[in-house]
Amino acid sequence: MTTADKQTVADFLDTTRDFLGGGYKSEKILYNFDKPVQVLKRPALNVDNTQTADSLEKITEEISVCRNCPLANGRKNTVPGEGVKNPVVLVIGEGPGADEDVQGRPFVGKAGQLLDKMLAAIDLSRTTNCFIANVVKCRPPNNRDPFPEERAACSYFLHRQILLLKPKFILLVGNIASQSILKTTEPIGKIRGKFFDYQIDELTIPLIVTYHPSGILRREEFKRPAWEDLKLLKSKIGN
Ligand code: URA
Repeated sequence: MTTADKQTVADFLDTTRDFLGGGYKSEKILYNFDKPVQVLKRPALNVDNTQTADSLEKITEEISVCRNCPLANGRKNTVPGEGVKNPVVLVIGEGPGADEDVQGRPFVGKAGQLLDKMLAAIDLSRTTNCFIANVVKCRPPNNRDPFPEERAACSYFLHRQILLLKPKFILLVGNIASQSILKTTEPIGKIRGKFFDYQIDELTIPLIVTYHPSGILRREEFKRPAWEDLKLLKSKIGN
């Protein structure tokens, strides 16, 4: 087998590993086949090989140059999320829409305005006690649902955001966020109205799901259950 053949096989195996692990992760690795175990060039945007402590600013910087999935090709801006550090509530949505893509900020369109009102009704806001993030940080084309491999490619960022933010509560809005984070296929209607204990590394965070504000804008009948969910969250937060 020639060196070129060996590199082709190695590329195939690396691509297969990335695909099975969620996709789009590694840059091409050039192997030195005279010393087969030595990796000459290491990835990667999403592997932190440095010794410096993680920070929200670092994550935002990494997101801004991320090309780990094809959503990077269509974005105007990345949308890492915004809000306070150590929030009472971390709100997680699906992914940026057109307005968010233009502004680089989460939930700033019509659905975002409703979300702000919903939060304000239970004394929450992104300027005082919440952080607002999304499962994917780049806009899916034509507002389609982000594909599982796109969510997986982005989960590395959200995971680190949660660990740094250490929110007291998590509120997931919509099916995509709820199903991605709770790893379920159940629709919101089946899993809303109660708290889950969300385990992430050493943390256990009370988590509740509700309808997405854009769903509430479309379907009047989602309003009441969403309000019930918010009241439940408020009662658990206390004063
Ligand atoms: N919908 C979402 O899920 N997230 C946003 O940031 C905007 C709309």
